[in-house]
Amino acid sequence: MKEARVMIVGFGVVGEGVAEVLDSKKKQLEKLGVKLSLVAVCEKDGCIVDEKGIGVSELLKLKKAGELQKHSGWKKKMRSVDAIREVDCDIVVEVTPTNVESGEPGLTHIATALDSKKHVVTSNKGPLALKFSELVEKAEKNNVELKYEATVCGGMPVFNMVENALASNEIKSIKGILNGTTNFILSRMHETGVTFEVALKEAKEMGIAEEKPDYDVKGIDAAAKITILANALMGRKLAYKDVKRVGIEEIIPEGIALAKKSGFAIKLIGEITGDKASVSPQLIPLGHPLNVGGTLNALMLETDLAKEVIVIGRGAGKIETASAIISDVLEIVKSRK
Ligand SMILES: NC(=O)c1ccc[n+]([C@@H]2O[C@H](COP(=O)([O-])OP(=O)(O)OC[C@H]3O[C@@H](n4cnc5c(N)ncnc54)[C@H](OP(=O)(O)O)[C@@H]3O)[C@@H](O)[C@H]2O)c1
Repeated sequence: MKEARVMIVGFGVVGEGVAEVLDSKKKQLEKLGVKLSLVAVCEKDGCIVDEKGIGVSELLKLKKAGELQKHSGWKKKMRSVDAIREVDCDIVVEVTPTNVESGEPGLTHIATALDSKKHVVTSNKGPLALKFSELVEKAEKNNVELKYEATVCGGMPVFNMVENALASNEIKSIKGILNGTTNFILSRMHETGVTFEVALKEAKEMGIAEEKPDYDVKGIDAAAKITILANALMGRKLAYKDVKRVGIEEIIPEGIALAKKSGFAIKLIGEITGDKASVSPQLIPLGHPLNVGGTLNALMLETDLAKEVIVIGRGAGKIETASAIISDVLEIVKSRK
């Protein structure tokens, strides 16, 4: 049995999902020959630490009740960065909020973990969109892994698929729907003829869009993902600010109706072709595999050997994202000697 100690930094939606999966899939992981123990959970105002292993069901109960501070291992005011340095663990799961301006607090967390010779698994786009090559070099220098499957298209396998199943291929171009919230809004506009504002309101009411939806509707989230894809899969040195970006706020029902009449849907498409990288609304033929509805994501990779490969799936969600994180954790544990 291979064992690993895991720390979760940022105990919000995804952090909680990771803890739930560690609990619900314990037996399945053991069948795969892997035993994971959770040794620390960090929030903004303190951390729970137990190097013998935190009982996950008790932890989840306290989290649901908003009473993490009542845990016997709660260390008030212990900063995440100190816990990352000090707690004896193998893998740091960094799942704090994405910030594409500074990358913080994730950037410092990830850099500190790598410098402390701890493997990192993250769903946080900010640090990778801003400092991809620096972080990859840091991981290599410290002889540890940095894995980020969950940063792009949540539960859909993209990086692991290219690394493994498409290992001998060159990725020539990438095109896809990388943001579920905007896809939901555009799909509603296409299906019902409502305005952007009405579809956004619906998305907010359903918990699909945040109160401040700028990251999604202005294409910021998709641009961060395009940056990570270009750097990780195509060996580019693309900076996030160099992605040409147009959001969906200006799209009007008349435009959608005209597209529909001509056999197209308007989709927010992230694309890397030649030396150009962009996020913008594009016309996609109604029968095209990228024309997926609702909150789905779809990604088309054009490769030299396998030609077009298309992945469709859920780009976000607590358990879907946890699935990608746990798969990265497993890859790390299985590859350890
Ligand atoms: N949700 C998804 O479906 C999804 C999918 C793919 C990728 N992601 C990415 O995954 C990350 C986490 O997403 P989420 O939905 O779980 O966000 P979230 O619910 O906001 O959770 C983030 C947590 O991190 C905490 N935090 C902030 N600063 C911290 C610090 N210095 N130390 C420790 N904890 C800190 C936040 O506390 P406060 O609330 O007190 O600030 C919050 O509890 C984000 O980067 C997001 O872009 C999310």
